[in-house]
Amino acid sequence: MILAIETSCDDTCAAVVTGDAAIRSNVIASQGLIHARYGGVVPEIASRHHLELIDAVIDDALERADVTLDDIDRIAVTRGPGLIGALLVGVAVAKGLAAVRRLPLVPVDHLHGHVVASTLGDNPIEPPFLCLVASGGHTFLASVEDAGTYEVLGQTLDDAAGEAFDKGGRLLGLPYPGGPEMDRLSKQGDAGAFDFPRSLPGDGLDFSFSGLKTALLYRVRDIGEDETTRRRADLAASYQRAIVDVLVTRARLAIERTGARRFAIGGGVAANSELRERIAGACAELGVDLWVPPIALCTDNAAMIAAASRFTAALQYPEYLSLDASARVA
Ligand code: KG4
Ligand code: ZN
Repeated sequence: MILAIETSCDDTCAAVVTGDAAIRSNVIASQGLIHARYGGVVPEIASRHHLELIDAVIDDALERADVTLDDIDRIAVTRGPGLIGALLVGVAVAKGLAAVRRLPLVPVDHLHGHVVASTLGDNPIEPPFLCLVASGGHTFLASVEDAGTYEVLGQTLDDAAGEAFDKGGRLLGLPYPGGPEMDRLSKQGDAGAFDFPRSLPGDGLDFSFSGLKTALLYRVRDIGEDETTRRRADLAASYQRAIVDVLVTRARLAIERTGARRFAIGGGVAANSELRERIAGACAELGVDLWVPPIALCTDNAAMIAAASRFTAALQYPEYLSLDASARVA
């Protein structure tokens, strides 16, 4: 029985997962509304709220799983990458819990969690597979030969796809985070109304989204405030279409180049309804089996951290007492 803790950004998360990948509980306390008034995540505020919420979130995860700490065999925690102050809260709590009970502790790479989210549940994906991870901080294509690690085949050279959604949302006057709002609004708009660039840098599998955001900025300036408000759904739909086109184009290329037979998506942007639909179409066309996690396993959560911990070496007491969070790489 694994108790996992995730506090890398603005969601305070704890989950109980069994060694054979059954999710017993997956609790997410979102601070989204707290940060919305600032138009983005304020790191110091996120850390303070993690501190306030973490005990209750862990209690809730244990209760929903119908277990107590006595039933837990190991603790898993996100070590990085993420906001350092936010990560520190999770790492300190995990070390404390593990140490008093002399339990093993598994430090987990947050991105590894997104990559292996589809190994959870009763239809787990098995390596080898390819995974597209698109979140607020990262966008990359990974090849997984063994679930304990992943090789990055291509990644964004500037903004992440989620960042493009959030910055675009802000330009359109949508509340933070822009991704879910843009998804919802796009359903009422015409994706062909505006022409936005599809940037495909180099001939590899890299991404670039900063030019797209700038194109939206210029378009909004050109047409003015009233017209932007009037045509917001069309702008959102056209902008979203450009992001999804790029993600699907690169995913197809990765599949064709590697000859992969299995594909998974992960990260907050994998919650996007148009991406889910389009990637399913592309995989069906290419004869590739696709794993699309439920939305709660796409956006940040602790169940995916438990998933990754099953493939990561545990540290024993007392060696993890010197474990540190890491803002960049895990
Ligand atoms: O994985 P995640 O929860 O946190 C990070 O590790 O960054 O991803 C958050 C990102 C945000 O940029 C948010 O706008 C985006 O995922 N997102 C979406 C949707 N839901 C969340 N983007 C597009 N469509 C969605 N439905
Ligand atoms: Zn994430």
